[in-house]
Order: sequence, then C-alpha cells, then structure tokens
Amino acid sequence: MWRTNTCGELNIKNVGEKVTLSGWVQKNRDLGGMTFIDLRDRYGITQLAFNMDDNSELCEKARKLGREFVIKASGVVIERSSKNKNIPTGEIEIKVSELTILNASKTPPFTIEDKTDGGDELRMKYRYLDIRRNPVKENLMLRHRVSTETRKYLDEQGFCEVETPYLIKSTPEGARDFVVPSRMNEGQFYALPQSPQTFKQLLMVAGMDKYYQIVKCFRDEDLRADRQPEFTQIDCEMAFVEQEEILNMFEGLCRHLLKEVKGVELNEFPRMTYDDAMKMYGSDKPDIRFGMKFREMNEVCQQNNFVVFDSAELVVGITVKGGASFSRKQLDKLTDFVKTPQVGATGLVYCKCNEDGTFKSSVDKFFSQEDLNNWADTCKSSSGDLILIMAGEKDKTRKAFSTLRLHLAEELELRNPEEFSPLWVLDFPLLEWDEDTNRYHAMHHPFTSPKPNDIEKLDTDPVAVRANAYDLVMNGNEIGGGSIRIHDRDLQKLMFKHLGFTDEQAKDQFGFLMEAFEYGAPPHGGIAFGFDRLCAIMGGKESIRDFIAFPKNNSGRDIMIDSPSVIDEEQLKELNIKLRN
Ligand code: AMO
Repeated sequence: MWRTNTCGELNIKNVGEKVTLSGWVQKNRDLGGMTFIDLRDRYGITQLAFNMDDNSELCEKARKLGREFVIKASGVVIERSSKNKNIPTGEIEIKVSELTILNASKTPPFTIEDKTDGGDELRMKYRYLDIRRNPVKENLMLRHRVSTETRKYLDEQGFCEVETPYLIKSTPEGARDFVVPSRMNEGQFYALPQSPQTFKQLLMVAGMDKYYQIVKCFRDEDLRADRQPEFTQIDCEMAFVEQEEILNMFEGLCRHLLKEVKGVELNEFPRMTYDDAMKMYGSDKPDIRFGMKFREMNEVCQQNNFVVFDSAELVVGITVKGGASFSRKQLDKLTDFVKTPQVGATGLVYCKCNEDGTFKSSVDKFFSQEDLNNWADTCKSSSGDLILIMAGEKDKTRKAFSTLRLHLAEELELRNPEEFSPLWVLDFPLLEWDEDTNRYHAMHHPFTSPKPNDIEKLDTDPVAVRANAYDLVMNGNEIGGGSIRIHDRDLQKLMFKHLGFTDEQAKDQFGFLMEAFEYGAPPHGGIAFGFDRLCAIMGGKESIRDFIAFPKNNSGRDIMIDSPSVIDEEQLKELNIKLRN
C-alpha cells in the first residue's frame, strides 16, 4: 500500500494511529539527535520525525534524503512538542518506523516554495516542478472548480454540451488561423477553430436549443498577458431568445461562479452603452472599481487663447481625489508617462484645488482663478483634489487618458484584486473602418445582427449602425462577448456585401451556413467567455499564464517540449510540402 492518508489530512484527532504516507521531500532538517522531514503532496505537508536514539540506522537514512526525493514512510501519529498553527497538520508529526525511497531526484533548478527563486523561463521549462508549488497548483485547482461549477449551472439550466471539430475551415474572428496540412487532400489545409462560432449556429438550426462547450480555440495573434495562442472558451448559444434573456442567463452564471468558488455575492450587473463607455472611460472595457470618470471640458477650457485647448477637438479632465498633495516630481513623472509611445499624448495639464480654496494650475498664464473654479465644478473636484487634463483629437485623447487613468489607479492602489466589478457593455457598433484594408470590418463577427431600426443606415452611415452585441467586462478585462445573430439568409447576404465579400467569396467561405439558413433557422444568439481570463480574475491576477497548466511563452513557444519545431523530411514529403531555404 502506498499510503493510508494524504499529507494534508492528519491532525490531533489521529494521534495514536498507525499510518503510511507517500510524497515529496520538501525540507530536511538535521538537528543532530533528531531529523525532521517535511513531506509534501497535493493536499498539504506533514512532518516526519526520526530519532537517533530510537533507530539510528533509519535516522541516518532520513538525513541523506535530498529535496524532491519521493518517499514512503510509515509510523505512528504523535502530538508535536512545538506546534505550527499555520498549517492544518501543524499539531502532529509522524514518528517513523519504516522508510522507503521510491525515487531519487536531482536538485531542482529552482526552489519549490511559494516564493521561488526561479525566473519565468526556467519555471516554464520545468513546468512540472513549477506546478508542485502552491500558488500554481492552487490556480489549477481554482480552474477545475470554475469548470465544474460552470457545467453544473449550465446543466441545471438545460444546456447540452456538444463537441465541435478542431479540424475545420477558417472561422472569421479577425485573427490569423493556425493551419494543418492534409495528407489525404494534397495541397489543402484545415484551419484550427478561432471559436466554434459557425458550428454553434448550425447546432441551433439543428434544434439543439441550448448548447455549451468548454472548448479550446486557436488564434495566431500577438501575445499579451491576457492572450494565448490556444485558449479556452465557455462557448454558449441559445435559440428563441432576445438579448435580455442572454444577459440574464449569463449574469446568472457569473453570479453562481463567484458565489460557489469565491463566496462573493454580486449585485445586479450595471450596464453601459459602448458610446458612454468610450465617453466616460475612453475604453470599451472600463474598470469601474474606482472613479476618475472623464469630464468633457471644452466649454470651460476653450477661447482663453491657450492654443492647445482652443485647437483641440476634445478637452477632457479627471479628478484625482486627494491629489493636490502630489509633488512637482510626481506631476513631472505623470507628464513623462503620457508622452511615452505607449500612451502617445503630447502633454498633460494639471490644476491643484488647494485646501484654502485657491487653485494652482500649470497654465495659470491663461486662466483666472474663476476659470479654474469652473474647471473644478465641471470635474466635481473639491479642495484637496487634483484635476488632470488632456486635449487633442477625440478618439486618441480618450485612449491616451484611459491608459493614464489605469496607470494612476495602479500607482494609487485603487485596483483591489479581491473586489469584483462586473459591467455589461451594450450596443457596440456593427462595423469599424479598417485603414489597412480600406474597408469595413465586423466589429464582433459577420454573423452579428444589426439593431433592426439601424438597418436602413447600412447604406448611408455604416459606422452609426449599432449591433445587438454585448461584452461582459470584469475589473477592466473583457471576459466575454456575444451577440444576437442574423438568422435570415437575405440579411446575412447583405452583411457580407457590406463587409466587401463578393457573392462568390461569401458562397465559398460560408455557403454551408447560408444553405443551412434555408432550412428553418430559428432566431438565436449567444456568448463566449474567455475561460482562462475568468479564472485569472477570480484568482486576483491579470496574467492568464499561471492559470494554464502548460502555457506558451510570449513568442508562442512551449519551451518545455520545445515546440514549434522542424519536422523530418519524410513527414514533409508525405504532406507534399517543400520548404523554401
Ligand atoms: P470573442 O472573439 O470576443 O468572441 O472571444 C470571446 C472571449 O474569449 C476570450 N479571448 C481570449 N482569451 C485568451 N487568449 C486569447 N487569444 C483570446 N481571444 C479571445 C476573451 C473574449 O471575450 N464566437 C464569439 C463569441 C460569440 O459571439 O458567441 C467569440 O469568439 O475573453
């Protein structure tokens, strides 16, 4: 028998029991007469005790155990003389009478401790050792709980999990596809799905009514902390629904997950239109855990002969509560920050609202105390606050200010990872203009339905057309997105036309879907959550990498298995692929 118990479960109630434990050597402390080993497994740590006086041979054997050796130890549970109140097993130890080395281990390349000395690359190369560490292991266990609770909730709501294929034809989600050559169909390629979008719509035509799938998706795009080339979605679709029912159903899912996994009760989720989000936060995924809302200041700032403001399409300000105490150095640093290429602004104006009711701005030459008082009114600032202002072209200024807003919140520690602030962002534009290709692109995807009242604007003012599309944002991260779909063949055809597809191209790429729409497609809509992102946020982090067992690095490489890699000549020949030298 390998073990009678795990290393996390024995306590004072078990004193006197004869037990066998197996696990890894976390720590070996040789105190001369006594040797103590911390034995670790997934469930915890239990102390093993060896006494020189009782059994010198066994004690000698224990002394020689290196870190990460795999051992089996049998003995009696006894009460410890010096107790460790920080761990559940801290009141007992095992007085060992039998010790077997199951496997030796080389000294690990980094310490297997909560705070390790291993850098990112090293930890990724030896990911199986990294996962032995509590923080990573706990993230994976959180992920497991989130997926289990997701399945529970969706099953209770009548959803059916259906698997869709991985070897498919390109799906138009806007990123590049990963492709797989077909041996049996020379010169032809499968694409790995960027999402199961078209399949879930076909499942609605097929009458499955409520579908979900926890599914891998693949996108060949530039990587960031919240992006991986292969990631997981909770992908869902429902027939005979309106937007409101979808929002309620998936607000319910989030509430269930937060309650069951984190013990957090969320109130009804606030909602905001895309236009308001851009206007008030300069972002379609605002972090509303803290204020610093944008205040438009054209009226109170322009026509004072300050050319930067006078020539600007938009003058916008925010209030930093208590910021009047910022030093000159701090303000200069903020100005330097907004001028970095990452933010791309030309400058920053400030105005301190002093405790004595006076104002001190960086543009005092142009503005009177009365003008500055008007600024404070517009920005809802009071004495002790700081007003920061940027001006310029509307979209650019909003974007730059949004970056500054997040930067400030980070500096002022306003982004509490244990607080969860969900937000529905609604009424996204249907189309966006793409400078590179010189045509309109679907902002969400080409199957998203326009708001019925806006359809007529498709010809005259395409960017003004709003879509029945929504995102779920949590703490400033887009964790999910979806839409009500087009289920009418003619409208879908019209959409393809507006997206610049010829009839021929539309038929070639989406003929199967258009055909399906001729066989009784029900009204339908859905949503997909970024499962890795959801887990990371629930775990209080923004990087998804530590919530994925075997992630890729920033160059898209798995440095543990060393992939991607070249394949041998034979394989290339079979696939009829010739590499350029
Ligand atoms: P969308 O493209 O918005 O919608 O994706 C849904 C969610 O998936 C997550 N996500 C990612 N997570 C990690 N790495 C990536 N590279 C990555 N890309 C996206 C985000 C995002 O909100 N088929 C539609 C959904 C629908 O309309 O039902 C879709 O895929 O959290």
